[in-house]
Amino acid sequence: MTATVTTTSAQPAPAGITFPDGFVWGAATASYQIEGAAREDGRGPSIWDTFSRTPGKVHAGHTGDVACDHYHRYAEDVALMADLGLGAYRFSVAWPRIQPDGTGPVNVRGLDFYDRLTDELLAKGINPVVTLYHWDLPQTLEDRGGWANRETAEAFAEYAQIVHRRLGDRVATWTTLNEPWCSAYLGYGSGIHAPGVQDPAKAFQAAHHLNLAHGLAARALRSAGAQNISITLNPCQVAPLDPANPADVDAARLIDGVANRIFFDPLLLGKYPSDVLEHIARITDPSFIRDGDEAIINAPLDVLGINFYTPSYVRALPGAPGALDYPGSQGIAFRPPVGPVTDMNWQIEPASLTRLLTRIHRDYPGTPLMITENGAAYPEGPGENGEVQDLRRIEYIDAHLRACHDALAEGVDLRGYFAWSLMDNFEWAEGYAKRFGIVHVDYTTQQRVLKDSAKWYREVIRRNGLE
Ligand code: FCB
Repeated sequence: MTATVTTTSAQPAPAGITFPDGFVWGAATASYQIEGAAREDGRGPSIWDTFSRTPGKVHAGHTGDVACDHYHRYAEDVALMADLGLGAYRFSVAWPRIQPDGTGPVNVRGLDFYDRLTDELLAKGINPVVTLYHWDLPQTLEDRGGWANRETAEAFAEYAQIVHRRLGDRVATWTTLNEPWCSAYLGYGSGIHAPGVQDPAKAFQAAHHLNLAHGLAARALRSAGAQNISITLNPCQVAPLDPANPADVDAARLIDGVANRIFFDPLLLGKYPSDVLEHIARITDPSFIRDGDEAIINAPLDVLGINFYTPSYVRALPGAPGALDYPGSQGIAFRPPVGPVTDMNWQIEPASLTRLLTRIHRDYPGTPLMITENGAAYPEGPGENGEVQDLRRIEYIDAHLRACHDALAEGVDLRGYFAWSLMDNFEWAEGYAKRFGIVHVDYTTQQRVLKDSAKWYREVIRRNGLE
């Protein structure tokens, strides 16, 4: 892209940057958000089918029944990816397509779909990056307690092996879970995501059983020969509003424990932090964490996926009710967004991504990192000429890529970047009201149109950098 810059101020244009050789350029999606075909080829119901049908839970009663109809249009979508020059595509497998009841019989037609998708990607030279769980838990498992039940972790390890047996000859990178923070705390804490439970004790049980599910699956996948084993977290880049105020600093420590260290520490250090264990014990009997669990969770990782959108700032505020998705956070207030925000009302602060990456690199050294999601919701659709001029999304991604480059310059071992999302899709509780795609989807006609951001991203990939 040649940009003609007319500057009225003395602001120099940002300098061009180049990423390391072999840096992975990708885009990401998730099964329930794009596939549709909710009742086809033997797929069983998931917690999101149930939740989206529960009045008042999802914007305007939207569901993933049809979504982007990717289940039928995957070849067209892979052709779009090839046109953009993507090196990798991160997608998730819908557990209820593979085991409609969560355990037991395997639905071969479900596996067939991911087999076709994998072959299509490979035929176009695109590396398939599989996520085994991006939130669509089989409903039958939820009926037995969902992630608050330890047996779900064991069921997950079995399911992971089934998928690996079918795709393992062609898929190198296996991500167990996407954002267990959301599954645990939005699913069982605030209840704004499926299954919509509000119970702080169950939220912590879920967090632990998700960790355990990862550990059991990672070990099973490794012994079955999987090459790259990964998990994707969405760390909260939390900072005290007033770093000089010890009460604010302590508030940030607590949120960091509940949001981040409860996952990072057992995964990468083999131990829950003592302040987090004390916090859990103040809320519920912690005996669901059994001897030996932390060692299972601490399975070797080849790459750690990081999803990042927005920073958080907290302060101590006696009497504040706290946030249900940070159980036990009474007396802590989150600062409302300051400055520019996206359509999600999420504050835009690229420098906080650099801070997050350097912190992970410092506190948990030795594991290569990958940005497995980053992007922004903006509403722009096709104008009269049919083009989608989404300049703000370009600016958002450009600034965050520069933040990644800054982290690389500080020595962070960052291996790649996946834009969220390849295309507009079902944005969970927001339904189709929020558009994260670099490709626009018309949900009436299912027509896909490259937004300007997609064309810009194609140039970033081609150049392996920014102008
Ligand atoms: C992440 C999810 C992804 C999408 C983006 C906006 O938390 O992993 O599915 O909803 O947020």
